[in-house]
Amino acid sequence: MKKLFIIFLCIHFIHSLNILVYQTLPGSSHIAFSGKIVDILVQAGHTVDKLIIEWNPNVLSNGTTLARRIKRFGLNTNSPWLSATHVVKPFDNVYYHPFDDEPVFYRKTLSQFCEAMVEDESLLEWIKEGKYDSVLSSAYDACGHGLFHLAEIKPVMIYSPTNLIDHWALMLGIPAMASYVPNPLRNNGQGDKMSLTQKISALADRTYQQQIVLPSYHEVQNSIFQRKFGPSFPSLTELAKQSSMVFVNSHPLLELGRPYSHKIQQIGGITLKESSGKLSNEFEEILNDRYKGAIVFSFGSLAKTDQIPIKIHEIFAKAFNNFPQYTVIWKFDGENTEFMSNYSNIYPVKWIQQIELLNDPRVKLFISHTGLNSLLESAHSGTPVLSIPLFLDQNYNAHVVESRGVGLKLLKSEITVASLTDAIQKILTNESFSENAKNLQKMLKNFPNKSEKTLINWIEYVSSFKDYGNHIQLQSANMSTFEYFCGDIFFVLFFASFSLFYLLYSILKYFHFLLKQKLKIE
Ligand SMILES: *[C@@H]1O[C@H](CO)[C@@H](O)[C@H](O)[C@H]1NC(C)=O
Ligand SMILES: *[C@@H]1O[C@H](CO)[C@@H](O)[C@H](O)[C@H]1NC(C)=O
Ligand SMILES: *[C@@H]1O[C@H](CO)[C@@H](O)[C@H](O)[C@H]1NC(C)=O
Ligand SMILES: *[C@@H]1O[C@H](CO)[C@@H](O)[C@H](O)[C@H]1NC(C)=O
Ligand SMILES: *[C@@H]1O[C@H](CO)[C@@H](O)[C@H](O)[C@H]1NC(C)=O
Repeated sequence: MKKLFIIFLCIHFIHSLNILVYQTLPGSSHIAFSGKIVDILVQAGHTVDKLIIEWNPNVLSNGTTLARRIKRFGLNTNSPWLSATHVVKPFDNVYYHPFDDEPVFYRKTLSQFCEAMVEDESLLEWIKEGKYDSVLSSAYDACGHGLFHLAEIKPVMIYSPTNLIDHWALMLGIPAMASYVPNPLRNNGQGDKMSLTQKISALADRTYQQQIVLPSYHEVQNSIFQRKFGPSFPSLTELAKQSSMVFVNSHPLLELGRPYSHKIQQIGGITLKESSGKLSNEFEEILNDRYKGAIVFSFGSLAKTDQIPIKIHEIFAKAFNNFPQYTVIWKFDGENTEFMSNYSNIYPVKWIQQIELLNDPRVKLFISHTGLNSLLESAHSGTPVLSIPLFLDQNYNAHVVESRGVGLKLLKSEITVASLTDAIQKILTNESFSENAKNLQKMLKNFPNKSEKTLINWIEYVSSFKDYGNHIQLQSANMSTFEYFCGDIFFVLFFASFSLFYLLYSILKYFHFLLKQKLKIE
């Protein structure tokens, strides 16, 4: 009897869940992140399906092989996402200011895909067939919320392969003061310490985003659902607000400090791979080539070498030539390497063993665009960084590098042979950078809780208590901007003090009148 009871208890606690992971796919880092979530959940004993919406059909990976069913959904025509500025010209200065093209491409992508998804009824059938206990949806697209509502799946949780983006902070009523919380996706040099002009720009941008741009993203999709299912179909904003939890790819040590609510769980680092500790012979030889060590240079996988102007390449080569005691391993997928042929310390390679290299003590510096994965890998390996952010959250990550003291930031618009040489020189000769990098590595390693465990525990908990999200909702999630910023209170106070002032004024005036009368009489 006792035994049976224990078995019953066990069954109760490791009840296997049926989970859907919904991924709109803008780029490979997103699929790697959601794929890892699938892997972790399957390894914890749950059944997981994955629905991939191919914004970027060039990314073929599913991120996982452990999902029970994987469905990929694409358009019959070209995806508008592939024409977005940062995809086509990564080296252009796209500041994501309100009047940029980026929101236009984003909106176009959102509406075209959502339209196709709603029209294709077999997609909804596929979702219903799964009989899911809960769903994890990408933070970058709300169309799924409409489909989950139709399929009656609850609770909905969110994952973001980046930091908490403004969109979700604003929807969930989480403080995002323009004075010190930069928009992590706005690539314009703002960190958490801003000048007055930067603060003004941050406030203007956030207000515009909040009032106009972000609502427009949901609006284009709302209209699709309302056209098909009638005007009473709930707005995607309302559905999205009811999400129970948001898992973000950030870590307290690898972000700029900001407030959160209980709806946010940080699971940064789940995609991090262990170094195998084994370098290929090719890299072994290259690392031993120069006596002071090596520099690793990579702009990641999204920005193709050919999309970067040759002029910029030449500047890099000339700057590297100023450090003949160091080997430079350059991840270079272009064909023309002629311009660097005279510099014997530069090795262009098509593919690098990034983690193994960064974990090798002979590597003294990592020159990187600081995509989130590169930031994580350099931080966990204790390697100093020269950050040259290209787009989106990379600028934010560059500020993290600077504020942890593990490296420097150089804007792509400021790249010259002199500025590059100077920055490289500083990091290689000033020990504070490598010391801080080693210290950060240690702090990360000994962090008291583990991201994977956080993810599993919360998904299991939230899936079993379906209204948990309502309990922890901030009231601010339901407030208008006017009410949120105490506009109503100021309004009342203003009129109260105005009335008081008027009353005092009238009394004084009356006494004045009395006084005058008295004087007249005398
Ligand atoms: C991704 O999943 C689909 C559907 O299961 C499958 O056809 C395809 O081969 C997978 N792609 C890769 C790269 O494994
Ligand atoms: C672990 O730490 C992160 C970051 O502070 C936090 O978001 C998460 O809730 C913690 N997990 C647990 C289980 O306490
Ligand atoms: C390499 O050096 C040679 C000899 O100094 C010079 O003629 C040639 O133009 C150089 N090539 C490049 C690509 O700079
Ligand atoms: C090294 O860099 C740190 C941080 O930028 C700076 O405070 C310090 O003065 C530098 N030391 C030297 C010797 O330049
Ligand atoms: C927020 O507002 C919506 C409709 O505007 C309402 O349905 C919901 O109950 C409100 N939530 C809270 C917590 O007040």
